[in-house]
Amino acid sequence: MKKFLDLADFEPAEIRDLLQLAQRLQDHPEPAALAGKILGLVFFNPSLRTLASFQAGMARLGGSSFVITPGQGTWQLETRLNAIMNGSCAEHIREGIPVLASYCDALGVRAFAEGKNLQSDLSESLFKIIDGLCDKPLINLESAANHPCQALADWKTLDDLKVPQRAKFVLSWVYHPRALPLAVPAATLHMAAMRGMDVVVLRPEGFALPGELMAKAKTAASAAGGSVTQTGDRAAALAGAQIVYAKEWGTTSYYGDADADMKLRADLSDWCVREPWFKHAAADVKFMHCLPVRRNVAVADEILDGPRSVVKHEAFNRMVVQMAVLHRLLR
Ligand code: CP
Repeated sequence: MKKFLDLADFEPAEIRDLLQLAQRLQDHPEPAALAGKILGLVFFNPSLRTLASFQAGMARLGGSSFVITPGQGTWQLETRLNAIMNGSCAEHIREGIPVLASYCDALGVRAFAEGKNLQSDLSESLFKIIDGLCDKPLINLESAANHPCQALADWKTLDDLKVPQRAKFVLSWVYHPRALPLAVPAATLHMAAMRGMDVVVLRPEGFALPGELMAKAKTAASAAGGSVTQTGDRAAALAGAQIVYAKEWGTTSYYGDADADMKLRADLSDWCVREPWFKHAAADVKFMHCLPVRRNVAVADEILDGPRSVVKHEAFNRMVVQMAVLHRLLR
């Protein structure tokens, strides 16, 4: 393995192999496996889990890491090609990324969507530039339209819980006061499709997942024996659900238009997951969310603190699966 950018770059069997390695490292720690290796971590955007789980995972394998948060104690990094750098950025990624890569054995980068142009964000224009500047194994810590580490951890969580392959997996839009990126919904959709699940995307009008993401997921689902559909009918979607995966995202109908997004979501505050959502779900339904989550805005206390929630299990698995990724990239 040379880089870890998108689950779709791998065959399902390769992902299952990686998850087996993750389980092996969880059951039989290898505290010297990556002795002498260094992981660089660059965060253009905030994090709790990704930052802490990568540093902890690297340390548990005997390696070390450094963290750069551009503009916070280090130079602000310009990402635009051909920019006239007379503003706040003192350094360009064209120098910054290769220099950082030269200090380490693998580099992880978090760079969220710009949120202005859907096609540009879906094409991962910035992450492709970063990839081209990095001559070491590159790890996607969340890009414009992908979060493969989260998706891999969620796949392991489903396996840990012995959720059947063809379970009904509902990926539901939930309320947030402002537009959030498509990275997690895109990665989650693809992961569940690749795992062979029956995936239903539930969302209000104006928030349909883009056709490109749906088409990619449908291809993966049909290869794995599952299915992918999209609806605005909450009752129909949640009936018989074995997994309810909640996530917030911005309008796709008016992508990049903050005012239009605000108008669309103004009447959608009832898209907060509460107990009645589970009335017709499967008896053993589980609730998932990647975190962070706004309590009683996106998901009610009663759900996050209730028996169906596996959100902390998902977060723990971030460290475990990332150890497997690091092991594969650096051993
Ligand atoms: N789920 C996730 O990536 O969490 P952080 O944003 O805290 O890293």
